[in-house]
Amino acid sequence: ISSKMKAMVDLLTFFGKFICGLLEALFYFIVPRPKKNVEGEIVLITGAGSGIGRLLALRFARLKVILVLWDINSESNQETCELAKKAGASNVYTYTCNCGERQDIYRVADQVKKEVGDVTILINNAGVVTGKDFLEIPDECVERSFDVNAKAHIWTYKAFLPSMIANNHGHLVCISSSAGLVGVSRLSEYCASKFAAFGFAESIFLETFAQGNTGIKTTIVCPFFVKTGMFEGCSTRNPLVLPILEPDYVVNKIINAILEEQVYLFLPRFLYFVLFLKSFLPTKSGLALCEYMRIFDVMNKFKGQVKKD
Ligand SMILES: NC(=O)c1ccc[n+]([C@@H]2O[C@H](COP(=O)([O-])OP(=O)(O)OC[C@H]3O[C@@H](n4cnc5c(N)ncnc54)[C@H](O)[C@@H]3O)[C@@H](O)[C@H]2O)c1
Repeated sequence: ISSKMKAMVDLLTFFGKFICGLLEALFYFIVPRPKKNVEGEIVLITGAGSGIGRLLALRFARLKVILVLWDINSESNQETCELAKKAGASNVYTYTCNCGERQDIYRVADQVKKEVGDVTILINNAGVVTGKDFLEIPDECVERSFDVNAKAHIWTYKAFLPSMIANNHGHLVCISSSAGLVGVSRLSEYCASKFAAFGFAESIFLETFAQGNTGIKTTIVCPFFVKTGMFEGCSTRNPLVLPILEPDYVVNKIINAILEEQVYLFLPRFLYFVLFLKSFLPTKSGLALCEYMRIFDVMNKFKGQVKKD
């Protein structure tokens, strides 16, 4: 009887939690979710020297956080620092770090811990792309993409997660991509590294939950193309359904997702539908849709990040 009772209690507990989850989601569908206060948090942004990383730094500058900016490019990182100070940040620390190298990440992470303190919001944003047919991608570029886009996330978690666990407080933000949700022709090494980043972040999200570290939050961001120059030259057939996104729009959504502790953020919304379609459409129908939307052509005019200096 007691084991039957236990099974019953388990089932009822599950139903209770399940229904609560649904009701809460419904409630917050109508009422905006409360936003957390991040004042005084130590926010580390990798790849802060340009694009999304820089804009994130400028948005966080207004939220009274302590900013720690990493980039491989010291000059552009310094520029972000100046801009962040102008935008209202009083505490900004810049570090030149090659996120493609584990030892460099550990070295700079130790420096941050000594000079600034324990990072409480970690934003893995630095990213690189090659943009060639698979067989034309030099091995070093494949390695670089995995090192920067995926492995760097692992090493930064190793460096900063222990103090988050000790304090049961922190937020892990993974900038993956729509290319971390669906494969894209001529983006093989990039997609593989972004899938890896997504899988890693999602696994640690589940692991922290399972271990009872409910104070550690995760946000995984998957945007379609953004006008930052990283995918310069790329275009889509249907800009209404799949537009090339404005960086400001993307960054506002990311900040919002962090403050509302949202786990998944796919941009634009159409991506949620793409994933749904992918889960059941017959392959031939899916391929026909890809052809119709000229998905195979998006990379045709790819130029990539053009150096400004
Ligand atoms: N732009 C897009 O269309 C798009 C779409 C989806 C996801 N993303 C992702 O968003 C993130 C930011 O991209 P972005 O569009 O701002 O690109 P970006 O090229 O403007 O910025 C990337 C930044 O990362 C830095 N960086 C590159 N290699 C580094 C390394 N080894 N160590 C440290 N820093 C390094 C660069 O110097 C640069 O400042 C990337 O992870 C990217 O994959 C971008």
